[in-house]
Amino acid sequence: MRKKIAAGNWKMNTSLQDGQQLASEVINMAKDEVKGEVQIVLIPPFPFLGAVKALVGTASNIALGAQNCHEEASGAYTGEVSIDMINSIGATHIVIGHSERREYFGEDHELLAKKTRATLDAGLTPIFCCGEKLDVREAGDHFKLVAEQVAKSLFDLSAEDIKKVVIAYEPVWAIGTGVTASASQAQEMHAFIRKEIANQYNDETANSISILYGGSVKPGNAAELFSCLDVDGGLVGGASLKSRDFVDIAKSF
Ligand code: PGA
Repeated sequence: MRKKIAAGNWKMNTSLQDGQQLASEVINMAKDEVKGEVQIVLIPPFPFLGAVKALVGTASNIALGAQNCHEEASGAYTGEVSIDMINSIGATHIVIGHSERREYFGEDHELLAKKTRATLDAGLTPIFCCGEKLDVREAGDHFKLVAEQVAKSLFDLSAEDIKKVVIAYEPVWAIGTGVTASASQAQEMHAFIRKEIANQYNDETANSISILYGGSVKPGNAAELFSCLDVDGGLVGGASLKSRDFVDIAKSF
């Protein structure tokens, strides 16, 4: 059985106080409302990881994630955050290769392969993002591009290691735009990604990897998306900043 995951990427939003309030509300509501088998991942900005961890405590179905990491273990990289630092706070997930990192910070396949490898080496779970921009989809090249993103950053991993990766398919044209991929567009791409993994590794490996959809996931569309055979949850941006909306999404499995 693949893990069902609702991950909330706060991006560069909230103050410490707003973040604490948001996390507290999510934790309290989720306790009563969200099925135990659904894994919630709260992904606040780096400076608030410790404070959010303190609120999460030992709640077994709520994990903490970071939005990025540096690929090196330590050293003279002013302003960067290492995986060991993230680990030492008690975070268990790291988002790797979000389209905003690819676009604004020039992160490429090779760098993302290193970050993924280093995250796994530390025993943490990478949430590896892939997805095409609108012009690529309009040109009909979206399958080719996503296959390349996945292959170039993940296919050097062993079967045992790639099973520990969570993949998030996030079409860039759907992120923060209010335009969601239709359930059939999401399912089609998720099935394609799983098939690529099956071809490279085997069915058993492909079938054990959770593939999340991201891009304008909202309470109103989450249930339809999550009901797709190959959609195992969501990576939620904007709607994760509203506790009621995010918990409603986490209830949509
Ligand atoms: P969105 O962001 O839900 O605001 O579209 C998704 C993401 O970037 O992960």
